[in-house]
Amino acid sequence: MNELANSSTSGGSVFTGPPPAVTAEKLSKTYGSVRACDEVDIELVRGEIHGVLGENGAGKSTLMKMLIGLVLPDKGSIAVDGKPVTIRDPLDAADLGIGMVHQHFSLVEALTVWENVALGDNSRLDKSRIRDRVAELSHEYGLDVNPDDRVEDLPVGMRQRVELLKCLRRDPSVLILDEPTSVLTPEESEQLFDSLRKVVGEENRAVALVSHRLSEILHATDRITIMRNGAVIDRCLTKDTDANSLARSMVGREVGLSYSGLGNSSKDSAIKVKSEPGDESEKIKEEFLLELQGITTSSTLGVRELNDFSLGVRQGEIFGIAGVEGNGQSSLVEVLSGLKRVSSGSVLLNGIKIPPNRFGQLAKKGVAVIPEDRHDSGVILGMSVSENLLPMVF
Ligand SMILES: Nc1ncnc2c1ncn2[C@@H]1O[C@H](COP(=O)(O)OP(=O)(O)O)[C@@H](O)[C@H]1O
Ligand SMILES: [Mg+2]
Repeated sequence: MNELANSSTSGGSVFTGPPPAVTAEKLSKTYGSVRACDEVDIELVRGEIHGVLGENGAGKSTLMKMLIGLVLPDKGSIAVDGKPVTIRDPLDAADLGIGMVHQHFSLVEALTVWENVALGDNSRLDKSRIRDRVAELSHEYGLDVNPDDRVEDLPVGMRQRVELLKCLRRDPSVLILDEPTSVLTPEESEQLFDSLRKVVGEENRAVALVSHRLSEILHATDRITIMRNGAVIDRCLTKDTDANSLARSMVGREVGLSYSGLGNSSKDSAIKVKSEPGDESEKIKEEFLLELQGITTSSTLGVRELNDFSLGVRQGEIFGIAGVEGNGQSSLVEVLSGLKRVSSGSVLLNGIKIPPNRFGQLAKKGVAVIPEDRHDSGVILGMSVSENLLPMVF
């Protein structure tokens, strides 16, 4: 795409001045027959947010895990500030100034924010110093985190900020974020990008931002590496590219992006959106397939969550529910999963009332739920795919 691609594949650096914070050359990792990363070169430069873009399965996380020492490369080399290094585990990476905010959080829910931040310290704990530092960093980066909050009481967006604080407290020169926005609202993502701008701008650190979302990579980064099937397909400066060209590199063919407002091709839209009101109306039935009538729930502490909540979903419809996190969405999902006791109201399927507060009734009648955090409540990670797919017996 530009001179960077050529120079990087030949192994040389185009940067003059100090060496990049991290230079990885020909990093490779194979799992069985899958080449998760195939001779990947990447340079993370101080003062820049480097976007790593690719579809699911492109090899982005594997690449980042090799930089942080969670996955050992089969081949290839890594240098930090120009010096060759071996990164055997995250402690090695931390010593070299590399920190990572993972896609799936590693916080201890029963502990407070400051306690989580302190985890892993091997010196004597100085509570007030750590608390003060957390508050200071939180303020500095506009993260608005209270050091004394218990993590289990925090919504996901906040928990991610705690992970970020944990990294920043170790004062890393390279900060890696793997799909950080998948759990954030658009507003929270925006705030995160503002904080990252501070991280690279004022403090001259390097940030790698991994994402499969074109719009945010275009919006938040300075430089982009695009991966597909374990290999680097393209590299470019963000200012020199656009959504259509990134999408083409990412999926390997022409795609229309008119549905999301990212591009302007209306001819071959990748996703067809129902736009004409009359179009599909015949398929949408009048009566509700799923109906919630006046559902009220409370937390274990007696705090009202859903308050006389009603909705009706018809056959043939996709029904969207929008709202700022913490306004009852989780309770709604728990009610539909049969995991939450309702104190009043009814759930109806095809007009028939489902007996309330009886675990498994809704699932048995065909209500399937994909939870927000699949690791937490969707699958049992220690079991195989087929074991996870075994039908539940109620
Ligand atoms: N621990 C693992 N064992 C087996 N296969 C893996 C493992 N980790 C990743 N893979 C495979 O490697 C490929 C790249 O995965 P990943 O790096 O997670 O991609 P991305 O982060 O871009 O979605 C995928 O095909 C994935 O299934
Ligand atoms: Mg990933």
